[in-house]
Amino acid sequence: MGKPLIIANWKCNPTTSKEAEHLFVAVKKEVRNIKNVEVVICPPFVWLGQIFEELSSSKKGLAPQSVAGNLRLGAQDCFWEERGAYTGEISPLMLKNLGCQYVIIGHSERRKYFQEADEIINKKVKAALKTRLRPVLCIGEEVEDEIGLVVGEQIENGLAGIAAARVREVAIAYEPVWAIGTGLPCSPDGAMKAALFVRKTLTKLYDRSIAEKVKILYGGSVTSQNAIDYIKGAMMDALLIGQASLNATEFVKIVNKINEL
Ligand code: PGA
Repeated sequence: MGKPLIIANWKCNPTTSKEAEHLFVAVKKEVRNIKNVEVVICPPFVWLGQIFEELSSSKKGLAPQSVAGNLRLGAQDCFWEERGAYTGEISPLMLKNLGCQYVIIGHSERRKYFQEADEIINKKVKAALKTRLRPVLCIGEEVEDEIGLVVGEQIENGLAGIAAARVREVAIAYEPVWAIGTGLPCSPDGAMKAALFVRKTLTKLYDRSIAEKVKILYGGSVTSQNAIDYIKGAMMDALLIGQASLNATEFVKIVNKINEL
């Protein structure tokens, strides 16, 4: 399965380039030499360029993929076309050229506030794969206990038409909507049931050996207090962290705890 992945989703924060740089530098200083965890920082689009500069500052001239050990850059969304007359959109190719390696797709806030449906999300996942960005497909039910139907459909629709040979490049983030930003995380037991359900669905869509290679993340009110429970006890391979990633000390604490497992 490889190293655990920890993804920081900064969402629509911070609001100045200085603050963004400050936050990134504080994290980079502590995690750049970490060995057992892959850390991905996903800032807002407008700060990606400067953060990539900062990430690669000591290794000028290297390809984006080889710049800073286990610290990488990702985006929070992308469009499904490479270029053209699409006012306001950011293409996966632009993100790739800025040094991104990952892109979050279908976050519940995109589904809720921007009416992103599974069909759009599927186009974005395919576009990301075409550009060789690793998509992090977000899924999750709005109401506790509804996991079966909702999450099953989100996976099936989000991955529609994606060949078995490429699906292992996709990571699946289980983020129950009721746990996001609420301070009410899913129990490790609930997260384990979700992880098993995601693997079962992937086995049905592809096969078991492929299902075992797809990284599954948990997201929703993760803190330094509960992070280990998901990786150790809940069969999750990775974490997607919102609020706690905006505090460098707290985020680094999470990374260190998982690194030492
Ligand atoms: P949270 O957000 O950690 O603030 O709950 C997680 C997410 O939305 O990705």
